[in-house]
Amino acid sequence: MAACVALSTGARMPIFGLGSWKASPGKVGEAVKYAIDLGYRHFDCARYYMNEAEIGDALQEKLQAGAVKREDLFIVSKAGENFRPHDEKGMIIPSNTDFLDTWEAMEELVDCGLVKAIGISNFNCDQIERLLKKPGLKHKPANNQIECHPYLTQEKLIHYCQSNGISVTAYRPLGAHTLKPGDPVLLEDLKVKEIAARHNKTPAQVLIKFHIQRNVAVIPKSEKPQRLEENFKVFDFELTKEEMATLLGLNKNWRDCLLPDCVNHKDYPFKADY
Ligand SMILES: NC(=O)c1ccc[n+]([C@@H]2O[C@H](COP(=O)([O-])OP(=O)(O)OC[C@H]3O[C@@H](n4cnc5c(N)ncnc54)[C@H](OP(=O)(O)O)[C@@H]3O)[C@@H](O)[C@H]2O)c1
Repeated sequence: MAACVALSTGARMPIFGLGSWKASPGKVGEAVKYAIDLGYRHFDCARYYMNEAEIGDALQEKLQAGAVKREDLFIVSKAGENFRPHDEKGMIIPSNTDFLDTWEAMEELVDCGLVKAIGISNFNCDQIERLLKKPGLKHKPANNQIECHPYLTQEKLIHYCQSNGISVTAYRPLGAHTLKPGDPVLLEDLKVKEIAARHNKTPAQVLIKFHIQRNVAVIPKSEKPQRLEENFKVFDFELTKEEMATLLGLNKNWRDCLLPDCVNHKDYPFKADY
């Protein structure tokens, strides 16, 4: 049984999963199948990533082969505004939809039995509070998926979510996807490397374990068999209290995923300092 985070629905979400943004068509299916054989049970997907069909086929293949049972898999997908038209400057032309109305539509999916739990992503505290105070709220968000790593430790937001019964998933845990010249490189951070060496682990393994020890789910993406294996080998060591404090001390509120084409959206979430 995989280590899990308890959801307010009563369900249990494996604390470790596979990210799939930019997972290449033609390769992602093989990566998913390999990951299942390694023990991955949580798969983070989105229509926006344009690879859900291949992931679905790979999961089906493994289910039919009896390699895994459906009830042991936790599959996440996302709805979003990413497919809305963009203007000439590449900015999303936002709709005026109130996210409370979107939430009501998502609640119907639960009531119809099409999904088991619904959550949010990139929501800040004010937005969550507005949702929790929605008159007639039927289903609380089970999870908030946010960027999180030692350069963006999100202590306030994680505390807010967890104390309101909302589990948290950390995306971009390795901070290694879209780096521009001058961006800080987490995998090269001397303190991360030092902690990794002490445990005979890699920097990626330390960055992943950092979340697990905060009871935060973590979904590193890789399509390379060796890295899929490396990233999963995080259940045989513990970071000390001091090491966790060192990692938290690296915070600089540095955000990689700024959603630049959405900055003009009325609900752009990263204006406040949380
Ligand atoms: N909700 C949202 O708005 C949102 C936003 C961003 C991401 N996400 C989700 O979160 C997942 C994870 O975030 P992410 O993909 O942006 O970033 P990430 O998982 O932090 O980093 C992925 C990058 O690191 C490389 N990598 C993987 N394992 C490694 C290792 N052990 N050593 C060195 N490099 C390694 C991968 O390359 P290879 O594949 O070549 O190994 C890839 O380039 C996404 O895939 C997606 O599912 C959600």
